Amino acid sequence: MTDSLRGVVLAGGTGSRLLPLTRVTNKHLLPVGREPMIFHPVRKLVEAGVTDLLVVTGVEHMGHVVGALGSGEDFGCDITYRVQQEAGGIAQALALAEPFARGGPVVAVLADNVFEDPLGPHIAGWDRRGAHILLREVPDPERFGVPVFEGQRLVRIDEKPTQPSSSFAVTGVYFYDGSVYDIIRGLRPSDRGELEVTDVNNTYLDRGALTWGTMTGWWTDAGTFETLARANRLVGG
Ligand code: G1P
Repeated sequence: MTDSLRGVVLAGGTGSRLLPLTRVTNKHLLPVGREPMIFHPVRKLVEAGVTDLLVVTGVEHMGHVVGALGSGEDFGCDITYRVQQEAGGIAQALALAEPFARGGPVVAVLADNVFEDPLGPHIAGWDRRGAHILLREVPDPERFGVPVFEGQRLVRIDEKPTQPSSSFAVTGVYFYDGSVYDIIRGLRPSDRGELEVTDVNNTYLDRGALTWGTMTGWWTDAGTFETLARANRLVGG
Protein backbone atom coordinates (compact mmCIF):
# COMPACT_ATOMS: atom_id res chain seq x y z
CA MET A 1 0.00 0.00 0.00
CA THR A 2 1.43 3.32 -0.97
CA ASP A 3 -1.69 5.50 -0.92
CA SER A 4 -1.12 7.46 2.28
CA LEU A 5 2.65 7.66 1.96
CA ARG A 6 3.77 11.14 1.03
CA GLY A 7 6.98 12.08 -0.73
CA VAL A 8 9.52 14.78 0.10
CA VAL A 9 12.06 15.91 -2.48
CA LEU A 10 14.96 17.72 -0.84
CA ALA A 11 16.54 20.18 -3.24
CA GLY A 12 18.25 22.66 -0.92
CA GLY A 13 21.91 23.39 -0.37
CA THR A 14 24.21 25.81 -2.11
CA GLY A 15 25.69 23.48 -4.72
CA SER A 16 29.11 24.94 -3.95
CA ARG A 17 30.91 21.86 -5.25
CA LEU A 18 29.52 22.63 -8.72
CA LEU A 19 30.50 26.32 -8.93
CA PRO A 20 30.37 28.14 -11.33
CA LEU A 21 27.53 25.98 -12.78
CA THR A 22 25.44 26.77 -9.71
CA ARG A 23 26.12 30.51 -9.63
CA VAL A 24 22.82 31.39 -11.29
CA THR A 25 20.81 28.21 -10.96
CA ASN A 26 19.97 25.43 -8.56
CA LYS A 27 22.12 22.28 -8.72
CA HIS A 28 19.00 20.18 -9.10
CA LEU A 29 18.04 21.96 -12.32
CA LEU A 30 21.29 21.02 -14.10
CA PRO A 31 20.80 18.48 -16.90
CA VAL A 32 21.02 14.76 -16.27
CA GLY A 33 20.27 13.00 -19.53
CA ARG A 34 17.59 14.98 -21.31
CA GLU A 35 15.94 16.41 -18.22
CA PRO A 36 16.72 18.55 -15.19
CA MET A 37 18.17 16.42 -12.38
CA ILE A 38 15.14 16.97 -10.13
CA PHE A 39 12.81 15.27 -12.64
CA HIS A 40 14.44 11.93 -11.84
CA PRO A 41 13.44 11.64 -8.15
CA VAL A 42 9.99 13.06 -8.96
CA ARG A 43 9.45 10.41 -11.64
CA LYS A 44 10.72 7.64 -9.35
CA LEU A 45 8.23 8.62 -6.66
CA VAL A 46 5.31 8.92 -9.06
CA GLU A 47 6.13 5.56 -10.69
CA ALA A 48 5.91 4.02 -7.22
CA GLY A 49 2.48 5.54 -6.62
CA VAL A 50 3.66 8.38 -4.38
CA THR A 51 1.81 11.32 -5.90
CA ASP A 52 1.56 13.82 -3.05
CA LEU A 53 4.92 15.55 -3.08
CA LEU A 54 6.60 18.34 -1.15
CA VAL A 55 9.60 20.01 -2.76
CA VAL A 56 11.94 21.92 -0.46
CA THR A 57 14.51 24.30 -1.89
CA GLY A 58 16.28 27.54 -1.04
CA VAL A 59 14.81 30.98 -1.53
CA GLU A 60 17.26 31.93 -4.32
CA HIS A 61 16.05 29.42 -6.88
CA MET A 62 12.53 28.56 -5.74
CA GLY A 63 11.07 30.43 -8.73
CA HIS A 64 13.08 28.35 -11.19
CA VAL A 65 12.25 25.08 -9.42
CA VAL A 66 8.53 25.93 -9.53
CA GLY A 67 8.95 26.90 -13.19
CA ALA A 68 10.50 23.49 -13.95
CA LEU A 69 8.02 21.31 -12.05
CA GLY A 70 4.84 23.41 -11.98
CA SER A 71 1.85 21.99 -10.16
CA GLY A 72 3.04 18.46 -10.86
CA GLU A 73 0.30 17.92 -13.43
CA ASP A 74 2.79 17.00 -16.18
CA PHE A 75 4.22 14.29 -13.91
CA GLY A 76 0.91 12.92 -12.62
CA CYS A 77 1.39 14.25 -9.11
CA ASP A 78 0.47 17.13 -6.87
CA ILE A 79 3.38 19.31 -5.71
CA THR A 80 3.55 21.55 -2.65
CA TYR A 81 6.57 23.81 -2.12
CA ARG A 82 8.38 25.06 0.96
CA VAL A 83 11.30 27.43 1.20
CA GLN A 84 14.37 26.54 3.25
CA GLN A 85 15.39 30.06 4.22
CA GLU A 86 19.08 29.26 4.79
CA ALA A 87 21.07 26.14 3.94
CA GLY A 88 21.19 24.39 7.33
CA GLY A 89 21.38 20.76 6.35
CA ILE A 90 19.21 17.95 5.10
CA ALA A 91 17.53 17.36 8.47
CA GLN A 92 16.60 21.04 8.72
CA ALA A 93 15.00 20.85 5.27
CA LEU A 94 13.16 17.68 6.22
CA ALA A 95 11.74 19.38 9.32
CA LEU A 96 9.78 21.65 6.98
CA ALA A 97 7.72 18.61 5.92
CA GLU A 98 5.96 18.35 9.31
CA PRO A 99 2.68 20.11 8.39
CA PHE A 100 2.64 18.46 4.95
CA ALA A 101 3.10 14.95 6.38
CA ARG A 102 0.29 15.41 8.94
CA GLY A 103 1.86 12.83 11.26
CA GLY A 104 2.02 10.19 8.54
CA PRO A 105 4.96 8.32 7.02
CA VAL A 106 7.15 9.93 4.36
CA VAL A 107 9.72 8.86 1.84
CA ALA A 108 12.34 11.57 1.47
CA VAL A 109 14.66 11.65 -1.54
CA LEU A 110 17.69 13.86 -2.04
CA ALA A 111 17.18 15.50 -5.41
CA ASP A 112 20.82 14.93 -6.42
CA ASN A 113 20.49 11.14 -6.14
CA VAL A 114 20.03 9.41 -9.48
CA PHE A 115 19.35 5.68 -9.43
CA GLU A 116 17.99 2.68 -11.27
CA ASP A 117 15.96 0.80 -8.64
CA PRO A 118 12.21 1.33 -8.74
CA LEU A 119 11.02 2.58 -5.35
CA GLY A 120 7.88 0.41 -5.20
CA PRO A 121 9.54 -2.72 -3.80
CA HIS A 122 11.50 -0.68 -1.25
CA ILE A 123 8.31 1.05 -0.10
CA ALA A 124 6.57 -2.33 0.17
CA GLY A 125 9.51 -3.62 2.23
CA TRP A 126 9.07 -0.99 4.95
CA ASP A 127 6.42 -1.56 7.63
CA ARG A 128 5.88 2.20 8.11
CA ARG A 129 7.34 2.12 11.60
CA GLY A 130 10.54 3.84 12.65
CA ALA A 131 12.98 4.59 9.85
CA HIS A 132 14.29 2.63 6.90
CA ILE A 133 17.41 3.43 4.85
CA LEU A 134 18.84 2.03 1.63
CA LEU A 135 22.51 1.13 1.28
CA ARG A 136 24.57 0.73 -1.88
CA GLU A 137 28.09 -0.59 -2.29
CA VAL A 138 30.37 2.16 -3.65
CA PRO A 139 34.09 2.56 -4.48
CA ASP A 140 34.38 5.79 -2.43
CA PRO A 141 32.40 5.39 0.82
CA GLU A 142 34.36 8.18 2.55
CA ARG A 143 32.21 10.71 0.64
CA PHE A 144 28.98 9.49 2.27
CA GLY A 145 27.24 8.29 5.38
CA VAL A 146 28.81 4.86 5.98
CA PRO A 147 27.18 2.01 7.92
CA VAL A 148 29.24 0.24 10.58
CA PHE A 149 28.39 -3.45 10.99
CA GLU A 150 29.06 -5.99 13.71
CA GLY A 151 28.40 -9.19 11.84
CA GLN A 152 25.03 -8.65 10.14
CA ARG A 153 24.00 -6.03 12.69
CA LEU A 154 24.10 -2.34 11.81
CA VAL A 155 25.47 -0.57 14.87
CA ARG A 156 26.20 3.00 13.71
CA ILE A 157 26.42 5.31 10.73
CA ASP A 158 29.52 7.46 10.35
CA GLU A 159 29.16 10.65 8.31
CA LYS A 160 32.01 10.98 5.80
CA PRO A 161 34.57 8.99 7.84
CA THR A 162 38.23 9.25 6.84
CA GLN A 163 38.54 5.50 7.49
CA PRO A 164 35.26 3.93 6.33
CA SER A 165 34.46 0.68 8.10
CA SER A 166 32.46 -0.77 5.23
CA SER A 167 32.23 -0.27 1.49
CA PHE A 168 28.60 0.87 1.60
CA ALA A 169 27.06 4.33 1.30
CA VAL A 170 23.78 5.36 2.88
CA THR A 171 21.85 6.54 -0.17
CA GLY A 172 19.70 9.63 -0.14
CA VAL A 173 16.41 7.71 -0.02
CA TYR A 174 14.98 7.67 3.50
CA PHE A 175 11.74 6.39 5.00
CA TYR A 176 10.48 7.97 8.23
CA ASP A 177 7.50 7.69 10.50
CA GLY A 178 5.92 10.70 12.21
CA SER A 179 8.45 10.77 15.06
CA VAL A 180 11.17 12.20 12.82
CA TYR A 181 10.26 15.84 13.58
CA ASP A 182 10.67 15.44 17.35
CA ILE A 183 14.01 13.77 16.64
CA ILE A 184 15.13 16.69 14.47
CA ARG A 185 14.07 19.19 17.17
CA GLY A 186 16.47 17.40 19.53
CA LEU A 187 19.48 17.63 17.18
CA ARG A 188 22.45 19.95 17.55
CA PRO A 189 24.32 21.28 14.49
CA SER A 190 27.37 19.28 13.42
CA ASP A 191 30.89 20.67 13.06
CA ARG A 192 29.94 21.95 9.58
CA GLY A 193 27.02 23.84 11.19
CA GLU A 194 24.28 21.64 9.72
CA LEU A 195 21.54 19.41 11.09
CA GLU A 196 22.69 16.05 9.74
CA VAL A 197 20.42 13.35 8.37
CA THR A 198 22.96 10.84 9.70
CA ASP A 199 22.22 12.07 13.25
CA VAL A 200 18.51 11.46 12.58
CA ASN A 201 19.26 7.92 11.44
CA ASN A 202 21.59 7.22 14.38
CA THR A 203 18.86 8.36 16.79
CA TYR A 204 16.43 5.83 15.27
CA LEU A 205 19.20 3.22 15.43
CA ASP A 206 19.79 3.89 19.15
CA ARG A 207 16.06 3.38 19.71
CA GLY A 208 16.13 0.05 17.88
CA ALA A 209 13.86 1.56 15.23
CA LEU A 210 16.06 1.62 12.11
CA THR A 211 15.89 -1.03 9.41
CA TRP A 212 17.84 -1.14 6.17
CA GLY A 213 17.71 -2.56 2.70
CA THR A 214 20.05 -2.42 -0.28
CA MET A 215 19.76 -0.94 -3.73
CA THR A 216 20.66 -3.44 -6.42
CA GLY A 217 20.69 -1.25 -9.52
CA TRP A 218 23.17 1.53 -10.23
CA TRP A 219 23.11 4.56 -7.95
CA THR A 220 25.03 7.82 -7.86
CA ASP A 221 24.84 11.27 -6.36
CA ALA A 222 25.33 14.09 -8.87
CA GLY A 223 26.69 16.84 -6.66
CA THR A 224 30.24 17.03 -7.98
CA PHE A 225 31.61 17.45 -11.51
CA GLU A 226 32.70 13.82 -11.57
CA THR A 227 29.41 12.40 -10.32
CA LEU A 228 27.32 14.76 -12.46
CA ALA A 229 29.15 13.34 -15.49
CA ARG A 230 28.64 9.81 -14.14
CA ALA A 231 24.91 10.41 -13.66
CA ASN A 232 24.69 11.57 -17.27
CA ARG A 233 26.53 8.46 -18.49
CA LEU A 234 24.27 6.16 -16.46
CA VAL A 235 21.02 7.81 -17.48
CA GLY A 236 22.07 8.05 -21.14
CA GLY A 237 19.93 9.80 -23.67
C1 G1P B 1 24.36 13.45 2.13
C2 G1P B 1 24.33 12.75 3.49
C3 G1P B 1 25.11 11.43 3.41
C4 G1P B 1 24.56 10.57 2.28
C5 G1P B 1 24.55 11.34 0.95
C6 G1P B 1 23.84 10.55 -0.14
O1 G1P B 1 25.65 13.91 1.87
O2 G1P B 1 24.90 13.62 4.46
O3 G1P B 1 24.99 10.75 4.64
O4 G1P B 1 25.34 9.39 2.17
O5 G1P B 1 23.90 12.60 1.10
O6 G1P B 1 23.88 11.23 -1.37
P1 G1P B 1 25.98 15.23 0.97
O7 G1P B 1 26.23 14.71 -0.41
O8 G1P B 1 24.76 16.09 1.02
O9 G1P B 1 27.16 15.85 1.59
